[in-house]
Amino acid sequence: MNALAGKHIVLGLSGGVACYKSAELARLLVKAGATVQVVMTEAAAQFITPVTMQALTGRSVYTSQWDAREGNNMAHINLSRAADAILIAPCSADFIARLVQGRADELLSLLCLARPLQQVPLLLAPAMNREMWAHPATQRNLAQVAQDGARVLGVGCGEQACGETGDGRMLEPGEIMEELAAFFTPQRLAGQRVLITAGPTFEAIDPVRGITNLSSGKMGFAIARAARAAGAEVTLVAGPVHLPTPRGVRRIDVRSARNMLAAVEGQAPEATIFIATAAVADWRPAHSAEHKIKKDGSGMPPPLAFVENPDILAQVAASERARAGALYCVGFAAESEHLLAHASAKRVRKGVPLLVGNIGPATFGQDDNALLLIDDQGHRELPRASKDELARQLVAEIAARCPPAPPR
Ligand code: CTP
Repeated sequence: MNALAGKHIVLGLSGGVACYKSAELARLLVKAGATVQVVMTEAAAQFITPVTMQALTGRSVYTSQWDAREGNNMAHINLSRAADAILIAPCSADFIARLVQGRADELLSLLCLARPLQQVPLLLAPAMNREMWAHPATQRNLAQVAQDGARVLGVGCGEQACGETGDGRMLEPGEIMEELAAFFTPQRLAGQRVLITAGPTFEAIDPVRGITNLSSGKMGFAIARAARAAGAEVTLVAGPVHLPTPRGVRRIDVRSARNMLAAVEGQAPEATIFIATAAVADWRPAHSAEHKIKKDGSGMPPPLAFVENPDILAQVAASERARAGALYCVGFAAESEHLLAHASAKRVRKGVPLLVGNIGPATFGQDDNALLLIDDQGHRELPRASKDELARQLVAEIAARCPPAPPR
């Protein structure tokens, strides 16, 4: 189950151009299985209509503390008691100031003030012009709301509706979803530093050609996202893939197996968990031509010789830290047949405590997968599901097996 399924979210909109993004956010929340109750300030209704938000959430929108639909006429109490979390997106500079002062003269700030502090978390996705964001008054207010128990999600940087460029944009709906999901995810990997390889490698034959494979990197990126949501500090070493970097994850892009090894060697001394999902090319051309190889008219292909690439996982697993138990190594096996037999043998050959098998051709590029976990106790299947769901399950399995995070 994803962390948001079954959650009841009060989505509050205050005034700002970013209200248009809140329509998409509401849609994503509903798609994730949450129920969404929208509450809008008068200013928000200048930017997007309650009709849109009602249509997307299937619930009529609240805009007034005098809403007669509530039997007891206490919308602020009823709405805040029913929520698993209150998320204000966009949260304007004015709304933050209102929270700081504990104002209660309109429904949204009133229900934030009335929420049971210990039970109903308040998350804020600020949105404003860069000067407003940088203003000492806003920064002072942000520090104060955080101290009063709100979780401030931060802002994006870039072009703003006013034409200026800088900090203050509301996070994208997908980013807010990641933050919210992480908020509800058990922090099983808190304090762990997770290093992940993902995607294919590209081994150059000449400046325009090379050998690679069909790995999309989706499984590794999903694991990076899930590990981060579970509280880990995550570094992702990615081969050539077309995927956005998961929020809060440090990404190092590489091309060849040797580039990947160098990046991993640089990061492994800091890591406590290493997860090798990359489909590393087993061989590379013995020589990479400096210029494009031309046809010579003979009709014969150029003679290509290959040499074996370093085995990144096996090298890391053989390192002193891994052998001492300070670095928990997880391997993947992409097989096309006899998954259990091949993957079990690979676990021993690579010297890793946990190996995750999957059928390569059935999963490359797909959004779902099925996994077979093999450790020294035996094997266990994680049945077919989305890669995001499997990544969450795998993170829980790794957390249950790896040594506790070292003290900082
Ligand atoms: N791996 C690696 N470096 C390599 C080859 C593989 O780090 N040069 C890692 C992969 O990231 C994966 C595991 O080793 O975690 C197994 O990869 P796989 O390609 O299935 O196995 P190979 O070692 O290449 O064995 P074979 O091709 O014989 O199946």
